[in-house]
Amino acid sequence: MKIFLDTAKIEEIRRAKEWGLLDGITTNPTLLAQTGKPWKEAVLEIIKEVPDKPISLEVIDTTWEGMIREARELAKMGDNVVIKIPFTQEGLKAIRVLSQEGIKTNVTLIFSPLQALVAGKLGATYVSPFLGRLDDIGHDGMLVLEEIIHIYENYGIETQIIAASIRHVDHVRRCAHLGVAIATIPFKVLEQMLKHPLTDIGLAKFIEDAQKAGIQIL
Ligand code: E4P
Repeated sequence: MKIFLDTAKIEEIRRAKEWGLLDGITTNPTLLAQTGKPWKEAVLEIIKEVPDKPISLEVIDTTWEGMIREARELAKMGDNVVIKIPFTQEGLKAIRVLSQEGIKTNVTLIFSPLQALVAGKLGATYVSPFLGRLDDIGHDGMLVLEEIIHIYENYGIETQIIAASIRHVDHVRRCAHLGVAIATIPFKVLEQMLKHPLTDIGLAKFIEDAQKAGIQIL
């Protein structure tokens, strides 16, 4: 499973890179606003830090013509830029045109298997079903994800699925169990994945015993 970081914060991106756990980045206007920097400065910094892995940047115009204009500008910022398009009727028109132009798209705000089917048929590069936001309203995000995986298998749809709106480590575990191609994970959850109290307790005991036994390797 590829691990994307769902962030626009450069410090978080650097930490994930140091761990060797960064296969790509997804951002959205909310995440960019959280950096407190002008959006373009924040985006250019990310592209400089990660020049060789997919970085999703979202359009903000709501008309298909506007989305296409913004997408073309954003795509010029780097070869690895992927354009996030919201799943709306206007968005669908934009996805088709951008796919034909060879601009990579990530269809965002996907909440149902049928939305994912449509985005896949139109040639989207990625689709992002939002697990946490579905759970928030009492639906089952994982079930939606499972159905999308199944539908794509049924029809040999090559669009890659990015499990998004991940809230906790158990979402990640279940994504991996389902075999989803990519999970985009907030930094806090990534950090939690690397921690286990029994590892810490076990290590403390090993070090204590090594000291008692006078074990010194170098
Ligand atoms: C995905 O690409 C989105 O940026 C993100 O996962 C949204 O997550 P949220 O529901 O936690 O805002």
